[in-house]
Amino acid sequence: MLSGEKVVLRARYDEDIPILLTGLYEDVVVGSRADGKPWRPLTPGTTDPRLVVDDKEEGRVSFSVVEREGGALVGTASFWGIDTHHRSAHIGLGLLPSARGKGYGTDVVAILCHYGFVVRGLHRMQIETLADNHGMLSAAERNGFVREGLLRSSAWVLGEFLDEVVLGLLAEEWRAAREG
Ligand SMILES: CC(C)(COP(=O)(O)OP(=O)(O)OC[C@H]1O[C@@H](n2cnc3c(N)ncnc32)[C@H](O)[C@@H]1OP(=O)(O)O)[C@@H](O)C(=O)NCCC(=O)NCCS
Repeated sequence: MLSGEKVVLRARYDEDIPILLTGLYEDVVVGSRADGKPWRPLTPGTTDPRLVVDDKEEGRVSFSVVEREGGALVGTASFWGIDTHHRSAHIGLGLLPSARGKGYGTDVVAILCHYGFVVRGLHRMQIETLADNHGMLSAAERNGFVREGLLRSSAWVLGEFLDEVVLGLLAEEWRAAREG
């Protein structure tokens, strides 16, 4: 497992799945804003890859996020689109409603940077988020991610097109910030 200041990233346990299903994926607004595809209900016993981890899939690594003190489940985090030629990957995260606004998201991004740059030897990490997702933008920028572009009206979300922001962080920038 990977430890941060407030949270720990560990493997997905079977007992996490119903909690994440109820807390994250039954929420039409959060699901529609975070997933980039139409919301649809998930049945108990679903094998949806956001919940059920396939250890053989090379391009994706999924974690459950738990509190460092006590180990309560607070959300999910993932590396996706891992490209071993360009040495890049995308990251995503979602916290249960009661866990938001406590600095956990910032901590998760920091842990994912360590995983990407140190454990996986990546050169670049990328985040895409809606332009009005201030929590995600702030959690990324606090970890050194730079806004690289605005994708105008690129996301259909609950009846309207919204802009998305692409953020990137390079290994040398991340290392320089830690040394400075
Ligand atoms: C987006 C998310 C991961 C951010 O994590 P978080 O733990 O809530 O954020 P943090 O507590 O680390 O806060 C980071 C910053 O965002 C701010 N922030 C957090 N939630 C916010 C909100 N709803 N509106 C405005 N600012 C917010 C915090 O004040 C903090 O600001 P600062 O850098 O100026 O101090 C989390 O809120 C979440 O899971 N939301 C729902 C799913 C989602 O949007 N996932 C991302 C999809 S790309």
